[in-house]
Amino acid sequence: MPKPKVFVTRRLPGDQHLSLGGATELAFWSEPLPPSRQALLAAAAEVDGLLTLITDRVDEELLRRSPKLRIVSNMGVGVDNIDVAACTARRIPVGNTPGVLTDATADLAFALLLAAARRLAEATHFVQQGKWKTWDPNLLLGRDVYGATLGIVGLGKIGQAVARRARGFGMRILYTGRERNPDAEAETGARHTSKEVLLRESDFVSLHVPLSPQTRHYIGRAELQLMKPTAILVNTARGPVVDQRAVLEALALGRPGAVALDVTDPEPIAPDDPLLKLPNAIVIPHLGSATDQTRAKMAQMAIDNLLAGIEGRRLPNCVNPEVYR
Ligand code: DGY
Repeated sequence: MPKPKVFVTRRLPGDQHLSLGGATELAFWSEPLPPSRQALLAAAAEVDGLLTLITDRVDEELLRRSPKLRIVSNMGVGVDNIDVAACTARRIPVGNTPGVLTDATADLAFALLLAAARRLAEATHFVQQGKWKTWDPNLLLGRDVYGATLGIVGLGKIGQAVARRARGFGMRILYTGRERNPDAEAETGARHTSKEVLLRESDFVSLHVPLSPQTRHYIGRAELQLMKPTAILVNTARGPVVDQRAVLEALALGRPGAVALDVTDPEPIAPDDPLLKLPNAIVIPHLGSATDQTRAKMAQMAIDNLLAGIEGRRLPNCVNPEVYR
């Protein structure tokens, strides 16, 4: 019996993808940048299983050209790079990696919140540029985090993990989302409110919703105008959840006071994007889950999903379980 063929779209941390070599005929993309569209289509056309990253688009065209494909395993919790409905229509299970990146991502959201509140990026440049001459009572004044109000948009796993951290900082926590979560309210003291009240009352707003047609540009010009002039917007979700052009205009008008973005639209952000010139905008390259331990767990989960799909078993983590009905 020939082994099933799989394609992994990048080297995984610790070369974990090589473990697939026993059970499968393994091909992987060894370049540092993702495969081009042409390369991805060509590779997918030959295989039974695909292990993708969030940079790889799996859409109708790819599925149509990949008649043997039986499993798409994404190394990431977000699957907005995948047309899940099109996979479901072909009864192809789609795997993702929830849970293992919750705390790392919440840590990073909180790191961004603190960094923006206390102007750490500006302060680092200030010292690097030799501008530190004396202790100055007016130098680089930031905002208090302790006791401030945090607005969490989307109190799912990561939103709740952020709320737990905020509790340790004595913050008042508001959240908004389609459904109330009484357990998380009881644990963290978070109070459910409308989007408008959250934006008006929060000193920090942190976004934790998946990207979907409903959440695209969830924060646009009108929403930014509701925020306090001193407020700080943190985005570790997906870049298009925020209208980045509106952010640029809003920062120029002084409302909100600052932004801290782990994700941008597009990714990567162009090096000459005016946002990168602003002292009150921190932008980092999509690092939410970027720790050794978390990435190793994500890679293993993605491999486990891929193998289950290849072997016709139910995926341990499947975003479209209706394929099994
Ligand atoms: C995800 O998993 O969706 C993250 O954005 C990448 O870590």
